[in-house]
Amino acid sequence: MRDSTLKRFGISMEGSLLRKFDDLVQQRGYENRSEAVRDLVREAIVQQSWEDQEQMIAGSILLFYDHHQRNLLEEMTKIQHSVHDVILATTHFHVTHDSCLELIVVKGKVKDVRELSHKLTSLKGVTYGNFTAAPVEKI
Ligand code: NI
Repeated sequence: MRDSTLKRFGISMEGSLLRKFDDLVQQRGYENRSEAVRDLVREAIVQQSWEDQEQMIAGSILLFYDHHQRNLLEEMTKIQHSVHDVILATTHFHVTHDSCLELIVVKGKVKDVRELSHKLTSLKGVTYGNFTAAPVEKI
C-alpha cells in the first residue's frame, strides 16, 4: 500500500562524508538533504529491482543506425514482431541522408525487455543504442 505521509529518521555519518554529501546536494541543485536522500533511495530501489527478472518495467530503447546497412531493417522488423506484445510504440526519424533514429517504447518483464534491447543494440549497423526504464509500480 502506498503511504505518502512523510516520516522522519536520523542519519549518522562521518563529517568528511557529510561534507561530500553537502557538495553533491549543492551541485545537483537539491533544496535540502532530505530531497537528495529521497532521490538516492529511489535510485537504489530502481537499481535493485533490475535483479528481479519478473519485475514489470516500462521505458524506451533508442537506436541510431545506418539504414544502408544490409539486412538491418529486415532484422529489426523481425525482432520487433517476435516480441510485439512488449512494444507499445515505435517512432522513426530520418536524422540525416544516411542515419536514422528509432525510438521504441516498451513495457514488460525485465528479462524480456532486456533481451529485446540487447538484440537490437547489438545488430550490425546500429551505431548507438540506449535503454532507459523504470519499474511500472510507483516507488
Ligand atoms: Ni530513416
